[in-house]
Order: sequence, then C-alpha cells, then structure tokens
Amino acid sequence: MGLRKTIAKLAFGLPQWSIEMVKPYRLVARRGVDGIYRGITHSFLLGVLLAGNVLAESPKPTLHTMKFEDFALELPTGLNLEDFYLPADNPINKDKVALGRSLFFDSLLSSNNSVSCATCHSPQAAFSDSRQVSLGVESRAGDRNAPTIINRAFSREQFWDGAANSLEEQAKVPLINPKEMAMPSHELLVKKVGDIRGYKSWFKRIFARDVNIDDLAKAIAAFERTVVSGNARFDRYKNGNQHALNEAEKRGLALFEGKARCSQCHNGPNFTDEKYHNIGVGWDATLVDLGRYKVTRKEQDIGAFKTPTLREIAGTAPYMHNGTFATLEETVTFYNMGGIANPFLDVEMKRPNLTLEQMLEYYEKKNDPKTPAPETGLVKLELTKQEQADLVAFLKALSGQGWQDITSPDSFPE
Ligand code: HEC
Ligand code: HEC
Repeated sequence: MGLRKTIAKLAFGLPQWSIEMVKPYRLVARRGVDGIYRGITHSFLLGVLLAGNVLAESPKPTLHTMKFEDFALELPTGLNLEDFYLPADNPINKDKVALGRSLFFDSLLSSNNSVSCATCHSPQAAFSDSRQVSLGVESRAGDRNAPTIINRAFSREQFWDGAANSLEEQAKVPLINPKEMAMPSHELLVKKVGDIRGYKSWFKRIFARDVNIDDLAKAIAAFERTVVSGNARFDRYKNGNQHALNEAEKRGLALFEGKARCSQCHNGPNFTDEKYHNIGVGWDATLVDLGRYKVTRKEQDIGAFKTPTLREIAGTAPYMHNGTFATLEETVTFYNMGGIANPFLDVEMKRPNLTLEQMLEYYEKKNDPKTPAPETGLVKLELTKQEQADLVAFLKALSGQGWQDITSPDSFPE
C-alpha cells in the first residue's frame, strides 16, 4: 500500500484529524477542534500512525441509542451520541416531540395561516425546499437557500452564518421574519396559539404553564433533534461491508479525502468541521452576502459560511447559501475551478500552492496586519471528467435512513 493510501485510510479512522499530502509531499495535519495548523514532525506522525492502527483494528459497527424519559431514539450507524447537543433545560420526551412536530407542520403559526416551518423544510425535499431561495407568506422571497433540518442536533450553531446559538434560539426567528411566517410579534403568536384549546392544554400538560415563546421554541427544537440521517451506504462501507459502495463510489471517496480535498472541511460523522469558510460562492454577483462577518464583525469572516452537512445531499438541491447550483455536477465543477476569487477566499482553498513553511509563517503572524494573507489566486483541483463523475457518485451514497418516517400529523389541535 502506497503512503498516500495509508494516510487516507488513517484519516478515515481518525475523525478529528485530516492528514493530507501537500506539495512537495509534506505532511500536514489539520485539527478539527480549533482549526490551527501544525506541521507534524516524524515522531509525532508516528504516534498518529500507531494510534490510527489501534483504531483500524477494531472497526466495530457502533449503534447508539439516545435514551430519553419515555422513549429511545436509535441513532443510525455513523452518527455519534457524544456529538448530540441537548441543552440541560430542554430534556426530550415523547409528548414534547409530538407537540413540536405539530407546531412544525402547523401553518397556524404564520400571519395568514399559509406557511409552516415545513413549507420550507418539507419531508418531501429531505426537510429542505427545492427553491433557490425560500418563499414565505404572500410568496415573499427570502435572501438565502433553505438548509435541511436533518441532523441539526449535531450542531450547536444554526443558520448559514451561525447567527443562532441553539435550535431553541433559531426557532423563534422565522416566526416573526416578515419574509417567512410574518407574525407581527412573539406576543401575538403566543396569543394565537394559546387561543387554540388543544394547544393550551397540551402546553399545560408538558410545561405546567400557559403557552409562551420559550416553551414553543423548546418543543420545536425537541422535535427537530429527532430528525436524523445515518446508515448511508457510505457508513455501511466504513463498517466493513466492502460491497456497500460500487467502484465509482469508492474512487469518489478516495478523491473526497485526497486529491479533491473535500474532507479538509467536510469531515466527521456529519461531514462538517462546524466552521465558517469563504469559498467564493456569490462573489461573481454585484451584491455579496457577507455571511459570518455579519455575526462576528471580524475580517476573516467576510463572505464565510458554515460548512454544511453533506448527508442527504442528493435530495436537497439547489446548493449553497444562495442556491446558485442546481446540481451536484455543477457544484463539483465549481470546486474543480478552485472556487471564485475574492480577497477573502479561505486559505484552505489556496493552500496546495504553498509550502508548509509559508503556511506556518502566515498562521504564526496571522494577527500582524503587515503580513497579509499569501497571494495565491485560485488553485484548480484538476479533476478529470471521470473523477468529477466519481465524486458525484460518492456524494449520492450519503443518502441514508432515520428521517423518512417523519411526516405531517393528519390533524392539528382545535
Ligand atoms: C419561508 C421559508 C422558511 C420557513 C417558513 C422556515 N424556514 Fe427555517 N430556514 C429557511 C432559510 C432560508 C434558512 C437559512 C437562513 C439563513 O441561514 O440565514 C433556514 C434555516 C433554518 C435552520 C438552520 C439550519 C442550519 O443548517 O443551520 C433551522 C434549524 C430551521 N430553519 C428551522 C425552522 C423552523 C423550526 C421553522 C418554523 C418555526 C422554520 N425553519 C421556518 C427557510 C424557512
Ligand atoms: C474550505 C472548506 C471547504 C472545502 C475544501 C470544501 N467545501 Fe463544500 N462547502 C463548504 C462551505 C463553507 C459551503 C457553503 C458555502 C456557501 O454556501 O457559501 C460548502 C457547500 C458545499 C455543498 C452544498 C451543500 C448544500 O447543502 O447546499 C456541497 C455539495 C459541497 N460543499 C461539496 C463539497 C465537495 C464535493 C468538496 C470537494 C471537492 C468540497 N465541498 C470542499 C466548505 C468546503
């Protein structure tokens, strides 16, 4: 087995680290936790290799069960119990999930009773919608593409720019966004829901008080946390079933973790580093969405967006924060060109041209305004047509199980 192959295999078993060859054949490890780059010496690499071997010898499929008060949620293979964010003040139980489901699908929660959360996060579209940007009440167009709500329990921050710190916080936003559900205020929403006798008593039963916005958001968040996807063919392959992926998909996986560099950002059980990157999407337009910068006001966040999950990606077209790509083929073409040039393009998109020394120098002096980010232009991936097709085939093998049985209730409280 060649060195490159060995490395790819080890990176596979070590989700926190992606290890990567950099021209001219240097090894660089990128830590998923704090995003700091470190060159690794041979002795350290040896440590990683040994640790990797230990892991590689015991690839037991691990099935995790989330045990709640009165029910259990089976996490499909590939998902991790430890990554599941559950705020201490919002324990999950069956009745609360049922209430959350009802609220999620009920268009009563919008100003003219026409739009529910599920209008834009529909089970038919893998809990997303098929539009470039979403349409709210009176078909008002929003500014961004609707992400899926599948596997949201595995992230703390929500929205493309991470503007919300929890699912609870997130759920309160669309209810009063004039371009989404357009309720004039949370107070009026609470009154509207509280006036429905069925909801009033349901909230009382669970929260022992009258309807209020915090409890409403908690119920919705509890429901959302049960919408999961795992056990894709990719996961079964990873767990040792050699036949779970076909040859094209296996080549696609190798590209994903190697030449195409996707796993630099799309890594871990949910295929995201939970960080924000400027990959250039939208920088060919006149108006640019500044993304994460709007939340942090830090220069390095200009035009940066959250690395989204790639689970169920085949079902959530169109793609990117502005829904600019209709297909996975187009998306891969974009990456193959190296993204779109702009002054804030993520260094991860440009790195292959730099030596390790240049990279470290940049990172060590990062806060020194006299040493600007290295000028490197776009770095093409140089994937052949066949390789691009293989990558797309692999992405399609990330469709899994867990969310398909979740549908709208037949009726809503009166
Ligand atoms: C009109 C369409 C629309 C409606 C209605 C809507 N959403 Fe969204 N949702 C979006 C869009 C668009 C985004 C991305 C916005 C952004 O990141 O700025 C989003 C983002 C989210 C996210 C963050 C996902 C992620 O990957 O970060 C969650 C969770 C979510 N919505 C849940 C809900 C809930 C719960 C409701 C109902 C209370 C709801 N949405 C109603 C369109 C909608
Ligand atoms: C530098 C980090 C980085 C790398 C490398 C990277 N991605 Fe992404 N990916 C992102 C970010 C950030 C977004 C969202 C960007 C936006 O909307 O502006 C994204 C979005 C996507 C989307 C659209 C997801 C959706 O729900 O709309 C797909 C598909 C995707 N990436 C696949 C890939 C593939 C395939 C590769 C390798 C060829 C790759 N990515 C490499 C960070 C990265």
